[in-house]
Amino acid sequence: MVIAIDGPAGAGKSTVARALAGALGFTYLDSGAMYRCVALLSLRDPAEKPAKLAGAASIELGGPGGAVLLDGEDVSGAIRTPEVSRQASVVAADPGVREALVAKQRALLRSGDWVAEGRDIGTVVAPAAELKVYLDADPAERARRRAAELGADARGVLAEQTLRDERDRSREASPLRAADGAVTLDTTGLGVEDVVARITELAGAARG
Ligand code: DC
Repeated sequence: MVIAIDGPAGAGKSTVARALAGALGFTYLDSGAMYRCVALLSLRDPAEKPAKLAGAASIELGGPGGAVLLDGEDVSGAIRTPEVSRQASVVAADPGVREALVAKQRALLRSGDWVAEGRDIGTVVAPAAELKVYLDADPAERARRRAAELGADARGVLAEQTLRDERDRSREASPLRAADGAVTLDTTGLGVEDVVARITELAGAARG
């Protein structure tokens, strides 16, 4: 079974997807981490085409303690910097990068049970997913959550987030939008447990 969770930054996707995967015994796929890995590679090697870097990269998401391994190197921390976040939304607009990463994601999803999280899981990567959820929340609340996580100023985060959301939604290649048949959940004011409980209910119904 595949549960697809899409939505903008700070809607609670990673926290919810990780908790949900734990509760159901499914494997968690953080597709954003893959775009972040390509962003890191392209910052390190600006002369190379990002699509080529994406195709050649070995990205492992389930390293020790959930570590992200890029060509064997633990980049779990390095891919979470503001610079990489910015660059990730730039390389994510490149159709060649998307093609390479979607192929890797589909290969993973071919067997087993997954909670897969990103921007295009329900629309492109796994449109046949048994359950598709679009998580959203008020922009100011999303920025507050992100700022609390990063220990940063909420106003600065909101400004960056607005730019990234705009880029993710308006790009030509797989723009962020709710998939056909997706259930939209607004998580403004909701706790993680509430959201996880609601999706668990939906998953039970989808399994039949
Ligand atoms: O979810 P995140 O912040 O780790 O995602 C990093 C960037 O990658 C963000 O700008 C959106 C983009 N992304 C994407 O385009 N498609 C995905 N499936 C996942 C992330």
